[in-house]
Amino acid sequence: MTNQRPDLRILSAAAWADHVADSLAGRFANDPGLRVCLPTGSTPVPVYDALPRALAGAGGSVGRSAIVLLDEYLDMPAGHPARCDTQLRRMLIDRLAPAPARFITFDVDGGDPVAACVALDAAIDAIGGLDLVLLGLGVNGHIGMNEPGTPAQAETRVVDLAPTTMTAAGRYGADPLPTRGVTLGMAEILAAREIWLLVSGARKAGILAGSLDGPITPDVPASLLRGHPGLRVIADDAAVSDLGA
Ligand code: F6R
Repeated sequence: MTNQRPDLRILSAAAWADHVADSLAGRFANDPGLRVCLPTGSTPVPVYDALPRALAGAGGSVGRSAIVLLDEYLDMPAGHPARCDTQLRRMLIDRLAPAPARFITFDVDGGDPVAACVALDAAIDAIGGLDLVLLGLGVNGHIGMNEPGTPAQAETRVVDLAPTTMTAAGRYGADPLPTRGVTLGMAEILAAREIWLLVSGARKAGILAGSLDGPITPDVPASLLRGHPGLRVIADDAAVSDLGA
């Protein structure tokens, strides 16, 4: 573990999404077989909006790549608009032509969420691991659905959701609110070659400061990312307003 600041890139709010999309498109252009894990939620929405054009500009394509979904709610029917797989399809996958060679999600409709976690990890192993994981930052410091209290060794698993995570699902029409999910573990996230933590807006300023300047602790799972040599934090002006010098 290190207490040093990670690679921190700060953009204006206007430039932030294009910067992330252009950086990601550059990765696909350099490595057509890129294996990347992607989040849902509100943070990446403008990035995913910008990605098809960024790919065209970079001469890149996802046609030979593998895209892995970071996490999923349990107890929600297939196709529900709040489901993470539905969100990522709507926000990105359905807008990419050609489609990614592989879109790997949690098979939570088979009735055995533990088996879904085992299968997701096996699918990641089968493609040779993850090159890059993009993450949003929960207001409580969660990463994926790795809620406060999660150690760095925690594996892909079924989790109970924190109250703020349940409420967030309501923004996408979840009713009743989900109480459980499945998430790529901290261990599997930290096993990726590179991690980009995407943070935008003043709402995240306090928790970003806690994650980067506070103690490295399972109480703030995002702080555990600081032990990763390939961590890059890509934030906008508003999100860094509480960071120390
Ligand atoms: C979503 C996910 C969550 C979100 C986080 C931030 O797949 O894993 O950890 O990234 O809750 O959510 P937003 O971006 O909506 O603020």
